[in-house]
Amino acid sequence: MPDILETAWGDNALMSDVLELVDVSVVRDGRALVEDVSWSVKEGERWVILGPNGAGKTTLLNVASSYLFPTTGSTRILGETLGSPGTDVFELRPRIGMAGIALADKLPRRQTVLQTVLTAAYGMTATWNEDYDEVDEQRARAFLDRLGMTAYLDRKFGTLSEGERKRTMIARAMMTDPELLLLDEPAAGLDLGGREDLVRRLGRLARDPYAPSMIMVTHHVEEIAPGFTHVLMIRQGKVLAAGPVETELTSRNLSLCFGLPLVVERRSDRWTAQGLPLG
Ligand SMILES: Nc1ncnc2c1ncn2[C@@H]1O[C@H](COP(=O)(O)OP(=O)(O)O)[C@@H](O)[C@H]1O
Ligand SMILES: [Mg+2]
Repeated sequence: MPDILETAWGDNALMSDVLELVDVSVVRDGRALVEDVSWSVKEGERWVILGPNGAGKTTLLNVASSYLFPTTGSTRILGETLGSPGTDVFELRPRIGMAGIALADKLPRRQTVLQTVLTAAYGMTATWNEDYDEVDEQRARAFLDRLGMTAYLDRKFGTLSEGERKRTMIARAMMTDPELLLLDEPAAGLDLGGREDLVRRLGRLARDPYAPSMIMVTHHVEEIAPGFTHVLMIRQGKVLAAGPVETELTSRNLSLCFGLPLVVERRSDRWTAQGLPLG
């Protein structure tokens, strides 16, 4: 039996792109929600998707999750081309971890936190039955511990605060040992302490070389954790900028993206943005 870390390295060496979109558009009711997006994510990269409300961020993430099939263009996820005869999305989906508001709303509120994370090993929103593996339970506990949720294992999911729920969802997304982790606005709705706590934990995850490739959607540069390497900016479904955070996260790009004059600053390893004063 090879060492678990060696196996991970071996996979890395053989791995092609994590995500490769070529001219992808998603059209609904005659309107392009995502338009001609070409974007590639390589093994080990951690991407932030920035853009205003309605820009198409969640739609793009849904394409990356294999749950939304684009209207035109080609999508390759973890080496599998969507729509090709050799690709079985039901084999692909467990390789992708996803945490977002839409999924949290589908989970049973009466399950405990531990059960909520455990069920991820057995399909998207499965409910609790007694037949869980000891190994799975240990993994669920370990992920919850990493997200600071050990004190909440027996709490009902429906009684959690926004921040506790978000952290549970991230632990849940890790359960299938995904090669790609998708986070849709993980810090939305958190108070300042909750946000800073989550940014710290995401930063730790982002810098862990054995953690999956990550794509995180946000509206706020303050939520970009240290360790995130790349940024994709979209506006009205179109890519405005894509590349390393250092070169692309500029005042000019951010202003174009959000449609108003903004100044972006980096202080140590964190980012802030503010509008220019009037007059
Ligand atoms: N199934 C759908 N049918 C029609 N319009 C949709 C659908 N899903 C999302 N939209 C619209 O597409 C746009 C982009 O949505 P979304 O990807 O959720 O944006 P974001 O996550 O950036 O806020 C929005 O204007 C939204 O109302
Ligand atoms: Mg969204």
